[in-house]
Amino acid sequence: MSSTYLVTGANRGLGLEFVRQLKARGERVFATARTPRDAADLRALTPDVLALDVSSESSIQSLAAALKGQAIDVLINNAGVFGNDPGLNEITMGEFQRVFAANTFGPALLVKALVKNVEAGRKRQVFTISSTLGSITHSSHGFSWSYRSSKAAVNMLTAAMHNELSPRGFTCVTFCPGWNKTDMGGKDAPLEPKDSIRSLIGVMDRIVPADSGRFLSHEGNAIAW
Ligand SMILES: NC(=O)c1ccc[n+]([C@@H]2O[C@H](COP(=O)([O-])OP(=O)(O)OC[C@H]3O[C@@H](n4cnc5c(N)ncnc54)[C@H](OP(=O)(O)O)[C@@H]3O)[C@@H](O)[C@H]2O)c1
Repeated sequence: MSSTYLVTGANRGLGLEFVRQLKARGERVFATARTPRDAADLRALTPDVLALDVSSESSIQSLAAALKGQAIDVLINNAGVFGNDPGLNEITMGEFQRVFAANTFGPALLVKALVKNVEAGRKRQVFTISSTLGSITHSSHGFSWSYRSSKAAVNMLTAAMHNELSPRGFTCVTFCPGWNKTDMGGKDAPLEPKDSIRSLIGVMDRIVPADSGRFLSHEGNAIAW
């Protein structure tokens, strides 16, 4: 039996690859893009393309209205941005706000807006794409303060979500997809999105409720917080 997924930030990069692979195996996929009319590659994969800017509360509310009554089995919080702040000298309040709005506040408010949709689904899974760059244990560089702290914060968000929602049957997991050749990851990245996402979808397929609250790699290994 097919499942219903929602993937954010799906017009390019890892989000587009999620949709490509999920559609190829017959899943129903609601895919979001900031500007659907410019998302030709995505519209070629699924008819269910919806507008969403995760940084905007009104955009999140519009999406929730469009999906009212629609059960979602798996919500994948994928949309994200990298910060333009390589080091201390470049950090600004504006850049922190832009990066946290997309990477941290957006996923929280999206889960709030769609909690009834996911509760109506058979799986009740909320998967958030984080990064090992948000791991404090593995922190070894000074670069990109906003990105790394936004991903550490979204990991805490998953822990809080797990604590609050697992009693209602939700499974909330945060993942690192590995360093991938996308606009964000750049051409020097060692992983191809098709390989990373194939592995990650396999890991997601094997997730059970006892995994809720964990931080896992695209190969299914635990990552230290
Ligand atoms: N690539 C890597 O090596 C890597 C490693 C670890 C984690 N990740 C994480 O994996 C996820 C996907 O990354 P990627 O490599 O595919 O990045 P990407 O190629 O830069 O694509 C980012 C996607 O997110 C969307 N997005 C950005 N801000 C948004 C907003 N405010 N509202 C809605 N959508 C927004 C973009 O839409 P627009 O086209 O409209 O900008 C685009 O679809 C991110 O969460 C990223 O942090 C990536």
